[in-house]
Formats: sequence, structure tokens, C-alpha cells
Amino acid sequence: MEILEKAYAKINISLDILGEMDNGYHEMLMVMQSISLGDDVKIRAEKGAGKIYIKSNIGYIPSDRRNIAYKAAEAFFGLSGISGYDTYIDIFKRTPVCAGLGGGSSDGAAVLRGLNKMFSAGFSLKELEKLAEKLGSDVPFCVRGGTVLAEGTGTSLSDLPPLPECAVLVCKPSFSISTPELFSKIDCKKIKCRPDTNGIIDSLGRGDIRGVGMRLYNVFEDVLEREKDKIEEIKSTMYDCSALGACMTGTGSAVFGIFDGRETAEQAEKLLAGENMCHIAFPVGKILAD
Ligand code: C5P
Repeated sequence: MEILEKAYAKINISLDILGEMDNGYHEMLMVMQSISLGDDVKIRAEKGAGKIYIKSNIGYIPSDRRNIAYKAAEAFFGLSGISGYDTYIDIFKRTPVCAGLGGGSSDGAAVLRGLNKMFSAGFSLKELEKLAEKLGSDVPFCVRGGTVLAEGTGTSLSDLPPLPECAVLVCKPSFSISTPELFSKIDCKKIKCRPDTNGIIDSLGRGDIRGVGMRLYNVFEDVLEREKDKIEEIKSTMYDCSALGACMTGTGSAVFGIFDGRETAEQAEKLLAGENMCHIAFPVGKILAD
């Protein structure tokens, strides 16, 4: 049995942090969007002792439990009770890693969707999202995809109207930023400026891409230190090339710009591609329906 599942990257149209919870996690309010940049996840299962093997075109990607794709397969077999199969997961990575683009999370989500289909296990979207929650805060969104409002720790999801047609330029500088470290720098009471989440939702409702573009905002950008200048430089190059908006995604370090079409995105790409890893992508709608 074999299946190919696409693992779409995500961008944060907005990212707000409302408070800190007792367990150290944070209460989030985010508008998330799937984009056409993504990894290919090929899954093959054959009769065997229940082992999981991970292979990738990138050497340093872990092939054991540290990989969300591995944990996803383990969790799927645990919950479904299906046994007696070896699973071979081959990941062709295109999404830059440690970038805030949900690369690892989307691979894990693709494994959940793929195994559910391959074994006709019949888990509903809600059930898969519940399983995904245990694997990481972004994994439930990556299972569902589309344009979504994420609340709670980022796992409580509601569908939003789709992001209107546009081109997205993703630009990953050579450095990465540690997610737990950036969270530890946030003091929720001191956040001065927050995204206009309702304004974004209204703009989506009107199909107004300019209204969305001008409201892109990520509160993590305010606590950047040595990385700040580079992030600002990338954003400013995007704006010079007529971006409708530009913003860091998640805990970075990737920055994305929204453009009215491929041509303007390509102009910015030409200027940024030397030093940074650049990809042009497009919005992707809901991947898995209820
Ligand atoms: O859930 P996930 O494993 O992706 O989270 C990685 C890290 O991000 C956590 O260890 C935590 O430091 C931080 N985090 C948080 N609040 C959230 C989500 C993640 O503090 N809502």
C-alpha cells in the first residue's frame, strides 16, 4: 500500500499572544493560512513487525521519535489499533526548516491524513485534529489547512473565508530563531501593539486582499533582538517592490510578503534570493473537510 500526501507550509497572517497559561504555554489568537509551498510525503506500508522508517532528501532531519512524522505514525497506529505493518515514510522537503512555516508540523499532519486514507481508518477531521494536538500546537491546523482562526494554544480552530487571490513570497534568512526562547521573551502585559484580528476577518469576508495585506502583524517581531535588522530589511525590500503587506511568520525566521500577482513577487524575489532562501507560493484552501 502506498500514498502520496502533500504537506503544505503555513504562514501567520496575524499572530497575537493574549496571556500565559499555568503550564507555561501561551494563549494565542492567530489567522493562519496554508500555502502551495510544501513537502511531498510518500507513505508505504507492508506486512511487518510494526516498525517506522523515516527517510528524507535532507540529511540532518531526524529519523526517530524527534521527527513529528514518526510520532504521528506511532500515534495513528496506537489509536486505530491497526498493527502488523512496517511503515516507510519518505519526505521530500521543500519548506525551509526552523522557519516558522510549520514544516515539521505539516509533515506530521500529512502522515495522519495519509494513514487515515490508506487504511480506511475512518477518523473524522475532529478526531484527527484531537490526535494532532498531542504532536504539536500547529499540527491540528496543518491537518485541516485553508484559512483559519486559531485560538487557545493554537489548536482551537474555526474556518474563515478564503484568502483572496494573491502571490506570497516566502523569504528565509540564513539564521534561525529558537521557538521556546522567543516565547520566553514575551511579556503579555507589555505588548503595546497588537494585530487588528477583527479587521483581518472583516477584510476576508469582503474578499479585500488590500485590507488583509495592510493588517499583517506578528507580536513576536517586537521582541526580536539581533535578528530585527535583517527581518526589517527583508520587509522593506518587499514593500519597495509593491508588497501589499510583509510580516514574519510564527517564531521566524522566515518573512513573507503578499503581492497582487506573481510578477511583483518575482521582482522582490530577484533582489532577495542571493542571500536568502526564497519561494513564490499561492494560497491553498481547506485540505481536509469535516
Ligand atoms: O506545541 P509545540 O511543541 O509546537 O510548542 C513548542 C514550544 O512553543 C513550547 O515548548 C512552548 O515553549 C511554546 N509554545 C507556547 N504556547 C503555545 C504554543 C507553543 O508557549 N501556545
